[in-house]
Amino acid sequence: MTTDTEDRKAEAGVWGALRQLPANVWSSVFRNPLPSTDLERASTSFTNFFLHIHPVKVHKNTLRPAYTLGLGLISLFLFLILIVTGVLLMFYYVPSTTQAYDRMLDLRGTVAFGIFLRNMHRWSAHAMVGVVFLHMCRVFLTGAYKKPREFNWVIGVVLLLATLFLSFTGYLLPWDQLAFWAITVGTSIAGYAPLVGKQMQFVLLGDTTVGQEALLRFYVLHVAVLPAVLVLLIAIHFWRIRKDGGLSRPEPSAPPAKPVVKVRMELQKKIYGLQGFVRGPFTKVGNVPDDSVYSWPNLLMAELFVFVLTVSVILVVSLAFSAPLEQPVNVMHPPNPAKAPWYFLGLQEMVSYSAFWGGIGIPTVFALLLLLAPYIDRNPKGVGRWFARERLLANTIFLTLAVLNVIFIIIGTFFRGPNWTFVSPF
Ligand code: HEM
Repeated sequence: MTTDTEDRKAEAGVWGALRQLPANVWSSVFRNPLPSTDLERASTSFTNFFLHIHPVKVHKNTLRPAYTLGLGLISLFLFLILIVTGVLLMFYYVPSTTQAYDRMLDLRGTVAFGIFLRNMHRWSAHAMVGVVFLHMCRVFLTGAYKKPREFNWVIGVVLLLATLFLSFTGYLLPWDQLAFWAITVGTSIAGYAPLVGKQMQFVLLGDTTVGQEALLRFYVLHVAVLPAVLVLLIAIHFWRIRKDGGLSRPEPSAPPAKPVVKVRMELQKKIYGLQGFVRGPFTKVGNVPDDSVYSWPNLLMAELFVFVLTVSVILVVSLAFSAPLEQPVNVMHPPNPAKAPWYFLGLQEMVSYSAFWGGIGIPTVFALLLLLAPYIDRNPKGVGRWFARERLLANTIFLTLAVLNVIFIIIGTFFRGPNWTFVSPF
C-alpha cells in the first residue's frame, strides 16, 4: 500500500518527465544547446555526426565566396539532389526495352509530380557535369592542386570521370530516340581504341549493339555501382581536405601572429587531441591567430546558403523547362546527325577529323596530363590566388585546353547538321 506522499512523488515524476520530455529528447540527440560561447561552438562541431566533418575553426580564406565560388559544395548538393530524386524515380522505372519508354510517359501523365521529379533529376545531372568541370578549373587556376594536395587532385580527376560516366549511363534509360542514338554514338567512340576497343564496347553493351543487355548494364551502373563509387570518393576527397590542412590559401605575408595568451613554453608546444594533427598554427593551445573563424556558425551558414541557392535554382529550372522525351526507339531510323550527349560532343567533333586521335588518343593524353599535373608542376609558388603571375605558363596551357574543349562542344552542339556538315544556327 502506497502513501499519499509516494503517490504525489510518482505523479510529479511522470508529469515532471513529460514536461522535461522535449528538453531531454533534444539533449539525448544533441549534446549541446545552441552554442553561445566559443567552447560550445567547438563542442558542437565535435559532437554532431554531420558537423564533425568540419574542423572546429577554418581559415577566413575558406569562406571567401570569390575564392571557391562555392563550386565544390554545389557539386555535392547536386549529387545529393540526384540521389534523392533518383531513388524516387526508381519506384517507377523498369529497365526493360518494352517498358522503359512507357514508364517515362507515365511519369509525364499519371504519376503525381512525376514530370517535375524527372526534370529535377535531368537538370541536376547536366548541371553537375558542368559544375564539377568548373570546380576543377577553379582548383587549377588557384594552384590548389600543389603539394600537399596532389593526391586530392587525382581523386578529383577520377571524380570528374565518374561524374561523366554516371551521367552517360543515365542518358540511355528513357529509351527514346535521343537516348538510343546518343549512346550508340558514345559507345562507338570507345570502340576506336586499338586492340581492346571492340572488347571494351562489348563489355559495356553486353552485346554488339545497344539493346536489352546494354539497358540493364547501364541501369545497374547508374543506380548502384557509380553512385557507390562517387560516395566513397567524395568521402575520401573531404577527408583529404581536412588532412591537407583545410583549403589552400596564400602564404601569410607577415610572420604568424604571436600567441594571444601568454603560456609557459612547454605548454605552448603541446598539441591537444586529434585537432593538433591538423596543419597550421591555429589548433595549438595558446597560439590562435585572428585569421580563423569558428565553423559554427560561419561555415555552416555559408553552406546552408549555397544549399538553398542550389536547390532553388534547380526547382525553378525544373518548373520552367521540361526534360526532353523524343519518339520511342526506332533502330531503323537514326537521326541525322546522331549526336552524343553534349559533354562528349567535343570528342565527337574531334572524331570527325580522326577516329583514333579524336576518340582515344587525344582524350587519353589529356586525362594523363590532368592526372600528372601536380607531379609535373612542382613550383610551390602562386598557391591560393586566382591567376597568380608566377603560374602564368601553367594557367595559360590549362585555359587554352579547357577553352578548346568548350569551343569543340559548342561547334558539335550548334554548328553540325546532317552528315556532320557545318551549318549555321542563325
Ligand atoms: C563530385 C565531384 C566533386 C565534389 C563533390 C567536390 C567537392 C569539393 C569541395 C566541397 C571542396 C571544398 C570547397 C571548394 O573548393 O569548393 C573541394 C575542394 C577540392 N577539390 Fe573537389 N569536388 C569534386 C570534384 C573535384 C575535381 C574534378 C577536382 C580536380 C580535378 C577536385 C579537386 C579538389 C581539390 C584539389 C580541392 C582542394 C582545394 C583547395 O584546397 O583550395 N575536386 N572539392
